[in-house]
Amino acid sequence: MSVAAADIIIDCVKNKPNALLAFATGNTPLLTYKLLAEKVKEQQIDFSKCFCIGLDEWVGVPPNVKGSCHYDLHEHIFKPLDIKQSQIYLFDGLSADILSECKKMNELVREHGGVDCLLAGIGVNGHIGFNEPGVDPSLEAHDQLLHPTTLASGQNYFKEVTKLEKGLTLGLSQAMNAKKFLIVANGKSKADIIKKTVQGEVTNEVPASYIQMCENGIVIIDKEAASELTK
Ligand code: PGA
Repeated sequence: MSVAAADIIIDCVKNKPNALLAFATGNTPLLTYKLLAEKVKEQQIDFSKCFCIGLDEWVGVPPNVKGSCHYDLHEHIFKPLDIKQSQIYLFDGLSADILSECKKMNELVREHGGVDCLLAGIGVNGHIGFNEPGVDPSLEAHDQLLHPTTLASGQNYFKEVTKLEKGLTLGLSQAMNAKKFLIVANGKSKADIIKKTVQGEVTNEVPASYIQMCENGIVIIDKEAASELTK
């Protein structure tokens, strides 16, 4: 799973050196990021012209706190890949003006002609970024009240109990319009939601299910996450 995802990102940058890349945090893509950094070094791929954005961010969590998307993306992908600050734009979870935060992100995505490659994990509730069940799929970047499942699993990323309530996220429309929209999932805990995502009906109750409508959508899973698929 991780090799395949890393290779797709590399191909994207090889084909378009100034690609706009959107990266998720969470546990699932960690090995992808490690392999990506190794492969980029080995193959001497030039990432110096690409631009990187974060898929989402916890509202109210400072960027220097481990578990914030800021911190984790820097640690796991930007530092290892030597991505400069001038190539990065992330949601500011501490911003007092959420609307303008989302507007800035939307303008940036538009200026780049859309996202070239968006890598997302999937929540056990089917969320993509913080597009939680019930989300309007036509939305671009927006803030979202977090689903109880996300509030509970979110604590696992932090060293201390952290107040979580809302998130900032790219919208499903931006994921669906990406030239490559990748979802990665591994392990038994994702088997049920992967079945709903790829075999169930397309519904905003399972936000990830919209990937069925994307010609450029790719779901990469391991055997355990695939264990409930029937076709
Ligand atoms: P995980 O999170 O990769 O840590 O399982 C995925 C998600 O909630 O989007």
